[in-house]
Amino acid sequence: MRIILIGCGVVGQSFAQILVRREAELVKNYGFHPRVVAIVDRGGAAVNPKGLDLEKVLPLKAEKGTVALSSEGGRPDMSALDVIESVEAEAMVEVTPTNIKDGEPALSHIKTAFKSGKHVVTTNKGPLALALPALTELADYNKVYLRFSGTVGAGTPVLELAKKCLLGDRILSIRGILNGTTNYILTEMDEKHITFQQALKNAQKLGYAEADPSMDVDGLDAACKLVIMANWIMDKKVTLRNVKIQGIRNITLQALEEAAKKGCTVKLIGSINDDLKVVPTEISRHDPICVGGVLNAVTFFSEFAGEETVIGRGAGGLETASTILRDLLDIKQNLATKLVA
Ligand SMILES: NC(=O)c1ccc[n+]([C@@H]2O[C@H](COP(=O)([O-])OP(=O)(O)OC[C@H]3O[C@@H](n4cnc5c(N)ncnc54)[C@H](OP(=O)(O)O)[C@@H]3O)[C@@H](O)[C@H]2O)c1
Repeated sequence: MRIILIGCGVVGQSFAQILVRREAELVKNYGFHPRVVAIVDRGGAAVNPKGLDLEKVLPLKAEKGTVALSSEGGRPDMSALDVIESVEAEAMVEVTPTNIKDGEPALSHIKTAFKSGKHVVTTNKGPLALALPALTELADYNKVYLRFSGTVGAGTPVLELAKKCLLGDRILSIRGILNGTTNYILTEMDEKHITFQQALKNAQKLGYAEADPSMDVDGLDAACKLVIMANWIMDKKVTLRNVKIQGIRNITLQALEEAAKKGCTVKLIGSINDDLKVVPTEISRHDPICVGGVLNAVTFFSEFAGEETVIGRGAGGLETASTILRDLLDIKQNLATKLVA
């Protein structure tokens, strides 16, 4: 499979490393021969229709900051859209930064890939939170696959558990902790009796929170994941506009202490019932989703199987990149059986 990689940051580089590390097993165990024919970052592109030598491109990216300075097919003049339109490939992996205002540049990358007949795997929540119903329609129209397992739970198979392991069942509702940063902050406040501001500073020092933490602490990141789950798992045609969102900036130590007296704590809970909400909520310490630190946890309530909870790390380069490989293998298997999603 020829692959175009758009974005070569934490996740993009981790994905390339996984391909290098797993090369022999991928061929032996899955008959999968991935060939990265182009990589694009903000400095331009590196293109080789026969497949780039990732063991050369990765150190060059680390040293020079851009793949476009590669002696092998370096193209500082080419943008992502130029590459997607002109380079022949079966799949595009989109791992540029998330933008929830207009979904760009990823939204245009994805649409252009569809139009040129390329399957898309992305870990970028932005375009999906804003336009997932339209994007799935466009993918179907162009007879290509769109996969995005890494957008919810990073490496933890949240979407796959619901979609594949509970195949044939009906998910009635979903409830979970979908953001590791806010969970870390609330856990620190609860256990160390420190304020929101102090816990946020700790999270920033450890690299769990960005300098501008609003995507996380205002509940937007969790809301994006909720939209993706509602569309993909429950077939609800919703976008970010349909989610009631409240973040954790106003959670006080007093609220946590009051909850503790009742054997509870406060967590930022995303839920899908008749409506979609992300709201700080008091939950029992015995609730299976009551996990600490940066962990995520999601409970599915299904008609036949009942209650199932999945717990795991919700971020990380290699963890997230591993989902790209899973999604590409899923596409390969679907193509082999000639199914179109
Ligand atoms: N990191 C995680 O743990 C994690 C977990 C789940 C989901 N995600 C999502 O995965 C995506 C990638 O995350 P990341 O951590 O890898 O981000 P990152 O480290 O910031 O990397 C982003 C990459 O995109 C490139 N880029 C930016 N604008 C571009 C453009 N217009 N054209 C081409 N390339 C462009 C950047 O180029 P330069 O290298 O030149 O700056 C960089 O290589 C994001 O949407 C993120 O939300 C990440």
